[in-house]
Amino acid sequence: MDLAREIASLKARRNAVILAHNYTLGDVQDIADFLGDSLELARKVTATTADIIVFCGVHFMAETAAILNPGKTVLMPDAFAGCPMANMITPKELAARKAELPGVKVVTYVNSTAAIKAMSDICCTSANAVKVVQSMGNAEILFVPDQYLGHYVQTQLGKKLHLWPGFCPTHRRIRPRDIQEARNAHPAAKVTVHPECMPETIAMADHVGSTSGILRYCRESDADEFIIGTELGLLHRLKKENPSKRFYPATELSDCPNMKLTTLEKIFWSLSDMEYEITVPEDIAERARAPIERMLEVV
Ligand code: 13P
Ligand code: SF4
Repeated sequence: MDLAREIASLKARRNAVILAHNYTLGDVQDIADFLGDSLELARKVTATTADIIVFCGVHFMAETAAILNPGKTVLMPDAFAGCPMANMITPKELAARKAELPGVKVVTYVNSTAAIKAMSDICCTSANAVKVVQSMGNAEILFVPDQYLGHYVQTQLGKKLHLWPGFCPTHRRIRPRDIQEARNAHPAAKVTVHPECMPETIAMADHVGSTSGILRYCRESDADEFIIGTELGLLHRLKKENPSKRFYPATELSDCPNMKLTTLEKIFWSLSDMEYEITVPEDIAERARAPIERMLEVV
């Protein structure tokens, strides 16, 4: 069976659109109608005229799509594709921390559950975190759940934030030692890393950006070689879009197993059986929508 062709015909029959994150498997990226970072995907879901959104990524992204599109059906080909960082904070824990910091404004990275977003003042992605925090003026900020992205924002704005101790296990595997070894092996290469990396790793990079930021940097740079400090899936798109340039992962260990759960077979079955529908309880969705929309207004 030609899966790509079968998926295309099912998609047309169902008036569906396939959105995929930059970290998904190469063959999933290749059949997606739209490929992007978390911010681009969140914007795209509000613009689509499709009835069904097949989300190839992780659970919090599909939840965001469902929150922003109450009338549409959002499907995930693998319902178990979660994000460990999103599970590093619970509503009870956040409520307790807020009680310790009266008047604090909560800025929540979109890599979080809908229930956490519902308790937040504004959301951000890795592409707009600095601008979002900047938009909060002099307010005291509790930044959740990614301590490293929060730390990066602090260094960019020279402003102290209260940081939640969450992190991305995939990006934490990219150590300063890996950057040094990659630089030794490829001395002419530029180093670009994601802000989910540890501060010590970020300090060694020439550039820091979200997945779309890394793509832009590599496209626009005069350099021919790049060391990439993010999840390995981005290498597929980097190589495809820049065939004359060379890309080396900072480490082969920066793989996100959840992003790799979505396969062409599962997309086919998802569209065929209309599974697995992602829904958010209306009371939570209503409260989570405002901080997401506030973010989309800022940038
Ligand atoms: P961006 O899509 O914002 O680059 O984030 C990376 C990520 O970890 C998504 O899970
Ligand atoms: Fe979560 Fe990290 Fe995987 Fe992104 S790469 S989904 S932050 S575990």
